[in-house]
Amino acid sequence: MSRVTVIGAGYVGLVTAACMAEMGHQVTGMDIDQAKVERLRAGHMPIWEPGLAELMEANRERLSFTSDPTEAYRDGEFIFICVDTPPTYSGDADLSRIWQVIANLPPEDGTRILVTKSTVPVGTGAAIRAELAAKGYRHIDYCSNPEFLREGTAVHDFMNPDRVVVGADDSAICERVGTLYQSLDAPIIQTDVASAEMIKYASNAFLATKISFINEIANVCEATGADVRTVAHGMGLDKRIGPQFLQAGIGYGGSCFPKDVSALKQLAGNSGYHFQLLTAVIEVNELQKRRVIGKLKRHLGDELRGRRIALLGLAFKPNTDDIREASSIVLASRLLAEGAVVVAYDPVAMEGVRGLLPSVTLCSSADQALQDADACVLVTEWAELVGLDWAKARAVMASPVIIDGRNALDAGRLRALGFTYEGIGVGNPL
Ligand code: UGA
Repeated sequence: MSRVTVIGAGYVGLVTAACMAEMGHQVTGMDIDQAKVERLRAGHMPIWEPGLAELMEANRERLSFTSDPTEAYRDGEFIFICVDTPPTYSGDADLSRIWQVIANLPPEDGTRILVTKSTVPVGTGAAIRAELAAKGYRHIDYCSNPEFLREGTAVHDFMNPDRVVVGADDSAICERVGTLYQSLDAPIIQTDVASAEMIKYASNAFLATKISFINEIANVCEATGADVRTVAHGMGLDKRIGPQFLQAGIGYGGSCFPKDVSALKQLAGNSGYHFQLLTAVIEVNELQKRRVIGKLKRHLGDELRGRRIALLGLAFKPNTDDIREASSIVLASRLLAEGAVVVAYDPVAMEGVRGLLPSVTLCSSADQALQDADACVLVTEWAELVGLDWAKARAVMASPVIIDGRNALDAGRLRALGFTYEGIGVGNPL
């Protein structure tokens, strides 16, 4: 058992804290947001992540929360930095919250290892080590230990990782951090700090590239009558390619891919290298969100003004309440710009949209959103939405047009019900 302090009670911090406690460690979670800490102490979850509340409840005796840095750092042998690193206007990562953590580190002795889980540009660890040295903090060692958690399955991903990456100057530090994970059945990659940082960026950028690649293949499939689902299946069986992240759709979103692809491109640019491939990955993704407008116009006519369009799903993917960089936001904004009446429903992610896009009418159910709609777009493939009573939907819609933005619906059945169905890259020649 080790004593672990986790700084930041967002997605990464809360999952790290709960899973570290589940692995038997004594964990103190720290967040500067006092109200959030109070809610956590009262057993309320500030985020919606499947299985997390239950895991926290089950490990209550090994898990406490505070907003007081002194209390948080007092006993921690390992101090995990899990604060967010949002993009700045230039596309760089904003590291101000990380520097705040460094400023609050305790000056007194007692050896500790500072472990960065937040995604940070390559070179950040070196800068942190230089800062620690400048402060004379010889009692604090440093390790990079990037996270590879997906929202919606973060607890499962933490407890069943494909690999654990630990990067430090000294292999003894890697060993010690690796020991925290010894109860997990996963290879531990020990490396230097810069390589650990790069593994995280390169992994996210590669996955985003896979998605933009298959989305472009989907667009060519549409022009040629091929079916991208079969193409992806045929490609994915090649072990060198693999089946994952080849699901064509209306673009990737979330707090990670858009931010990290842009940050890696920026990092390369700042280092004098023009990362052309990532420029294309980003542009393809932006265009992919907007292609839905063309699809709607093909079925409804060029004039979308006054047409009622139902968006089903707003979260950037199912099983999360996160709408950051969600395709729904761009799509809704484009539709509003065309003069359409946009109605929307999401099983959990409506609060954020209320403030962001007040002109979107939010409905309390999918059925309500579909009432009198001229078309509907499946934006997020929530099970609840895929499993709707589509015969009933057909009866209440003004015109039965479905754009399936995630190729998640049963096209044959919907067509049999009288719908005009269009997916992404599934043999709908332009
Ligand atoms: C992603 C990575 O998958 C994690 O490994 C990483 O740790 C995390 O970012 C992070 O950096 O913190 P996440 O953003 O939660 O995780 O979501 P993903 O499941 O990767 O999906 C991202 C987006 O890609 C979603 O909008 C999803 O709909 C889209 N996607 C995914 C596709 O369009 N097609 C696919 O085949 C897969």
